[in-house]
Amino acid sequence: MQLDLFAAVLDEYLQSGSLSNESLYAHLGRAGAVQPAAFAQRTAIGASGEQHSPAKRRVRWIQQTLKAMGLIERIPQQRGVWRATTKAKADLTPAQPKVVLLGFHTELGIGIWGNAVDVLNRIDEPVSLFLTSPPYALRQPRAYGNPSQQAYVDFITSTLEPICRTLAPGGVVALNVSNDIFVEGSPERSTYREELVLAIKSRCGLALMDSLIWLNPCKPPGPIQWASKQRMQLGVAYEHVLYFTNDPHRCKADNRRILQPHTPAQRRLIERGGENRTAVNADGAYRIRPGSYGNATAGSIQRNVLNVSHNCPSQRALRAKTDALGLPRHGAVMPLKLARMLVEFFCPPGELVVDPFAGSFTTARAAEDTGRRWICGDKHLEYVLLGQHRMQPAVA
Ligand SMILES: C[S@@+](CC[C@H](N)C(=O)[O-])C[C@H]1O[C@@H](n2cnc3c(N)ncnc32)[C@H](O)[C@@H]1O
Repeated sequence: MQLDLFAAVLDEYLQSGSLSNESLYAHLGRAGAVQPAAFAQRTAIGASGEQHSPAKRRVRWIQQTLKAMGLIERIPQQRGVWRATTKAKADLTPAQPKVVLLGFHTELGIGIWGNAVDVLNRIDEPVSLFLTSPPYALRQPRAYGNPSQQAYVDFITSTLEPICRTLAPGGVVALNVSNDIFVEGSPERSTYREELVLAIKSRCGLALMDSLIWLNPCKPPGPIQWASKQRMQLGVAYEHVLYFTNDPHRCKADNRRILQPHTPAQRRLIERGGENRTAVNADGAYRIRPGSYGNATAGSIQRNVLNVSHNCPSQRALRAKTDALGLPRHGAVMPLKLARMLVEFFCPPGELVVDPFAGSFTTARAAEDTGRRWICGDKHLEYVLLGQHRMQPAVA
């Protein structure tokens, strides 16, 4: 696959300091990235019919891409000898603007290395679900970079613009965003989320369906200054999943796809034919009659508070795999259980899910597991490589 070889070539430069082309071919052969015999094979290429090695040409094409991306440079006065640049030695390798590379594919989807806008601009089929956790507006940025609070609304709405053009009628745009953004130096919460909702409505023409609460009982304690020290805030425990659509009456979300098992008390009520009393509650807003709640149903409707801990087996398996591969750990992984629930609720089977801020490719994994097609991408090469391994059954 294109990205495997790309990563292998970059890795050789990072490991070796400097390399001539012939040593690079030998290293790639030893590392198993290319069959050594492939470098010896020649075929006629071009109008002149001259004999060339397709494997060497592929490697040199990657070399030129790495050069264009500023990740390798020629060593002065040494013909054909290259080395990794300081930029390449950073932990995370960002994609260049407008450069989009296929990282890997599965039966149902493709993983792409590229900037969100560039990935989204290339999608030309109807998207049923755009589900993502964009980088949050954090003051202390994560390793992968975060937009400022001031730039946040523009960052999100400009990312959404291309997707709004391809969103299927009733398609869903779901954004997992933080509730814990504070005005600098103050216990006052930022109203960026409210501003974001209004901007998505006015600039992108999308209607807000709900702001689901993702209750995460394992969320690290915070905000330290305002809850643990000054005591004027409560400890944080949730984030939002805002969901929008371009056509509320045709919205593709369907709670029958995520019905929850009845509780023992509900089962007992159904078995005995429902209520056997009459009551009027809340000034007539709720009425109970004999037989109320007695219909046998396939399950209970999921409430709009989703209680899912981020400390789950899928996260542990992913961390172990990341360490084994020597890749940087991703600092903001969504629990797979939550992603599955959201994908199933928002998107009918077989339709297309998109996540351009894919991180460790949790959305992709959830879509693959539940039979939805998907296109997911991330700006950082290392996360795309991680995503490729995320598709193995054992890392679910
Ligand atoms: C909050 S994380 C997503 C985590 C993901 N939901 C998961 O479960 O792993 C945001 C991701 O967006 C990526 N990112 C940041 N800016 C980007 C951009 N302009 N285009 C594409 N990806 C970007 C970061 O590399 C990071 O992996």
